[in-house]
Amino acid sequence: MSQQPIQYAVDLIRTARNIVILTGAGVSKESGVPTFREAMHGLWAKYDPQQLATPYAFRANPQLVWDWYEWRRGLVREAQPNAGHIALAHLEHLHSGNVLTITQNVDDLHERAGTRSIIHLHGNIAQNKCFEACQGEPTQIDTIDLDDDGRPPHCPHCGGLVRPDVVWFGESLPVQAINQAIEASQFCDVMLVVGTSGLVNPAAQLPKLAAQNGATVIEINPDTTPITPIAKVKLNGTSGDLLPQMIAVLEA
Ligand code: OAD
Repeated sequence: MSQQPIQYAVDLIRTARNIVILTGAGVSKESGVPTFREAMHGLWAKYDPQQLATPYAFRANPQLVWDWYEWRRGLVREAQPNAGHIALAHLEHLHSGNVLTITQNVDDLHERAGTRSIIHLHGNIAQNKCFEACQGEPTQIDTIDLDDDGRPPHCPHCGGLVRPDVVWFGESLPVQAINQAIEASQFCDVMLVVGTSGLVNPAAQLPKLAAQNGATVIEINPDTTPITPIAKVKLNGTSGDLLPQMIAVLEA
């Protein structure tokens, strides 16, 4: 990567008052958490994540879906924030304007890297809730009893099944999170889009909304995505490589 596009991106960021950072699974890849759409390995190679991450799949086979999430939880627990997460946290603290991170990721690696101002659009994989939403949506379950067989636990209120507190395909996003994300996207001057395929709505609409309202979109991704055509600056490469370079230029 030549210095010029990075310098251009940094100039845009430096002069912005309101910055939104939109992240996806690509940001956590260099921490060892596989992205959603890449081929799964080992035990899980024969499954399609888009078929597992649905309420229908959980209803049909709770054990399978629970086991898959337990596996992903293990990966997240062992993972450490990478240089990309750390650079983004640094940007929030370094910049004199407002910097808000909106993430589709269900891990907490942004927070563990030091990001404070963050909206999770798709929930939190470490938390659980009642599948029946017996006390309203969400009915969060703080402590669960896992038996030795690793069977999906039951809700202490209604006895129904407990599920991970994440958004599945076919489900609505948490209302407050998506409303705040839409508002911030409409008002930002710069949106930095990192490591997302731009395929899953409504998150994929946020860069378009930002651009329609006059913001400059900067994209970091090794691939071309549906967001690329609206990006004023496209940085081809990984977040763990490019974001620290951007911060170094910003600090110089
Ligand atoms: P995807 O797995 O769809 O896409 C990951 C993106 O990251 C791709 O565009 C890759 O090219 C890019 N990428 C891979 N490695 C990268 C790296 N090291 N640095 C930067 N970019 C990299 O993930 P998302 O777009 O986040 O939703 O997927 C959106 C949603 O779809 C997820 O939140 C999840 C999934 O269904 C739910 O679970 C509801």
